[in-house]
Amino acid sequence: MSTIDLGRNKVIDESIQGEATIIQAEGQKNGKKLYVESYGCQMNFSDSEVVASIMTKEGYETTRNMDEADVVLINTCSIRENAETRVRNRLTEFKKKKEDNPGLVVGILGCMAERLKKSLLEEEKLVDLVAGPDAYRDLPNLVNEVEGGQRAVNVLLSRDETYADISPVRLDQGGVSAFVTIMRGCDNMCSFCVVPFTRGRERSRDPQTIVKECEELFQNGYREVTLLGQNVDSYRFNLSSKGEIKDVNLPTTNFAQLMEMVALISPDLRVRFSTSHPKDMTDDVLQIMAKYENICPYIHLPVQSGNTEVLARMNRGYSREWYLERIEAIRKYIPDCAISTDIISGFCGETEEEHQDTLSLMDLVQYDYAYMFKYSERPKTLAERRFEDDVPDDVKSRRLTEIIDKQQKHSLLAHQKQVGRTDKVLIEGLSKRSKEHICGRNGRNAMVVFPINGYDWKKGQYVQVKITDCTSATLLGEIAE
Ligand code: SAH
Ligand code: SF4
Ligand code: F3S
Repeated sequence: MSTIDLGRNKVIDESIQGEATIIQAEGQKNGKKLYVESYGCQMNFSDSEVVASIMTKEGYETTRNMDEADVVLINTCSIRENAETRVRNRLTEFKKKKEDNPGLVVGILGCMAERLKKSLLEEEKLVDLVAGPDAYRDLPNLVNEVEGGQRAVNVLLSRDETYADISPVRLDQGGVSAFVTIMRGCDNMCSFCVVPFTRGRERSRDPQTIVKECEELFQNGYREVTLLGQNVDSYRFNLSSKGEIKDVNLPTTNFAQLMEMVALISPDLRVRFSTSHPKDMTDDVLQIMAKYENICPYIHLPVQSGNTEVLARMNRGYSREWYLERIEAIRKYIPDCAISTDIISGFCGETEEEHQDTLSLMDLVQYDYAYMFKYSERPKTLAERRFEDDVPDDVKSRRLTEIIDKQQKHSLLAHQKQVGRTDKVLIEGLSKRSKEHICGRNGRNAMVVFPINGYDWKKGQYVQVKITDCTSATLLGEIAE
């Protein structure tokens, strides 16, 4: 039941959702049931699968019914204030459940756990257990401590934890598309962003374990993997940030090489990745994308703002011109590439002219999709310490609306350009709206819906579809074979 939408054109502020992790337990059971709910980015959903794996090894069975759970864990996000508000409301509901069932263990995981640490236990008394993103191996001990009558906290961040050896238990067994975390943390310090504080230093996972996990997914019927990291372009294994080799006896791997290793598993395994960073995305990544048909022609390249001064205040490390040059490079190597972005409206000090620069950059790039947000000040970030959050809320909202309206037009245009083409689509299943239609994505990550018309279809199968019509959200077509 838990699907994660990667490239849809919607405002994420409205779509941070809780999803229950459902996995069948394997091995010796301890008679206890675990319920995990996840919020935030794909990395959090991926982490919940690691957590489920650790806990099922301990004998827990997972359940989608919170009322029968002995342990309830909520994996949380801090990226914007409303993400935290949603979790707080949920925790208040859990607290009520605990009044009826005092033996219930309630734990908070993820970015809010890391940001708020003990205060969730002590001042707010909302939970029994707090575990940060690098502390999940310790969860069985922490739960034991709580069962022994104590409150338990582990929010230590690590320089090297990548959970490389833990095979995540997949949410949607029998699924088609899976997320594979290739790195953790972030070293970038964009001034608006809380992630470096909640996720710690950047570290890359051993490429052999990544390839092995992708091979196993392929053998189990998956046909698409998305390689995940906050900044995949700075993936490096056995290389220091200055490019020096750490161990001369081991091979080194950068992101382009890793992507090639995964692409070579099978031409029938689609490869996607997220997120690229404009300051770090190099031509060798684009060249590898152009070389392999199974690496999807789709890049998520968050711009945040179209104005160079705002970008400098954001500490993004690139200018408007640099960003536009990177877009040109994408179009040169992969003319057909879909491009999406993230945009923040009303960052500290943003003038009307600076906002207009964002709109004009959107006109120049014509993104296929965008995730658009109002700036939300986060405690401890550089922006909170250095700048005033001085754009009034109604101005932030109005600018956001202008950005969304423009994007809607561009999304429709991008889809209209695809009408008349024939595309390879990976079938994901029946359309949500009609039993006579099936759906799947093309390489550009657009959702394509088409009638079955007696076709003997299977989930995870590729099919050629002629695109006949579209909306700003979906392509409509018919099977061309
Ligand atoms: N690592 C990715 C983004 C991770 S967070 C990158 O560098 O692009 C996802 C998006 O949330 C960001 O791209 C940004 O647009 C948005 N975001 C982050 N902090 C925010 C804040 N304080 N207020 C509003 N939006 C924010
Ligand atoms: Fe946050 Fe910037 Fe790191 Fe992305 S690159 S996670 S926006 S600090
Ligand atoms: Fe949210 Fe943490 Fe992801 S703050 S966006 S869950 S890295």
